[in-house]
Amino acid sequence: MAPWRKHEFTHKLPGEHVYNGILFFGFSPPDTLRAVRDFTVREDDVFIATYPKAGTTWMQEIIWLIMHDGDFKGASETPVYFRSPFLEFKDEILNEVGLELANPMSSPRVIKTHLPYSMIPRHLQQHSCKTVVVFRNPKDLCVSYYHFYKSSSSMGNFQGSWEEFFEMFMTGHVDHGSWFDYTKSWWEVKDNPNVKVTFYEDMKRDLRKEVVELCSFLGKPLSNEIIDDIVRHCGFESMRRNPMTNHEDVYSINKEISPLMRKGTVGDWKNYFTVAQNELADYFYRRHLGDTGLQFTYEL
Ligand code: A3P
Repeated sequence: MAPWRKHEFTHKLPGEHVYNGILFFGFSPPDTLRAVRDFTVREDDVFIATYPKAGTTWMQEIIWLIMHDGDFKGASETPVYFRSPFLEFKDEILNEVGLELANPMSSPRVIKTHLPYSMIPRHLQQHSCKTVVVFRNPKDLCVSYYHFYKSSSSMGNFQGSWEEFFEMFMTGHVDHGSWFDYTKSWWEVKDNPNVKVTFYEDMKRDLRKEVVELCSFLGKPLSNEIIDDIVRHCGFESMRRNPMTNHEDVYSINKEISPLMRKGTVGDWKNYFTVAQNELADYFYRRHLGDTGLQFTYEL
């Protein structure tokens, strides 16, 4: 065990397993991860690639509305997780099975994945459909993930301390593995013209600007009025109140412990990180991503 670590990790994710050297929860079983590699993409699919807690749901709602010309009626009728399938997810209780939702879905499909680049569908790596990557600074993301680990039964309702979770996160001992490896894998393809890298913090800073850029990247010129409506609809308070986006009907998330729409801010990490943890996080960042030129915003 590394000298800085104080905890033996005892928490088990329900059905956890290691695939390609990466830890996964039971809702991404090996047969699903294998099948994802063979998934057939379509020219007009849009993929959203994020590490968990980077603002995936936020981007799903935005892109679904862009790709459907601001169909707010459609968005009010079906939860976002059924409109925008989570490709490598298989929850038979909720009847949310990503591949089964995606395969028969009419185009344009907006598909979510938390997989590193090496594990996405082979066909997507060869194809020219678009992928939007959302990155979020790892300190806020870690805090968000900690709360999700506590509130979600799919994560085994983590009972340990913040300190222990911080160590788990830094060492990649969490569902979908190391944030550092994940981030590196997608950053390496940032120059692919079909890949657009976006940042949670930029969306917080100026959501309208990001929506306009997304419309242009996705080849969907929308009126100023529809863009304004999307920006309003996708504000944090609006999504927190909206039963189609707030996940309050999802049996596995105990909102009394922590709702999915928790705080939606930049800089909450300061309420959790000790000085030593902050230094360690910066050290890990330098070690893993220091030579990439990728920089994050930690406060607005
Ligand atoms: P916090 O836990 O920091 O509040 P994901 O969808 O990838 O699981 O990410 C969830 C995180 O995104 C949560 O972060 C959630 O509050 C935040 N989020 C979701 N919708 C948002 C919005 N419209 N504006 C800002 N943050 C949002």
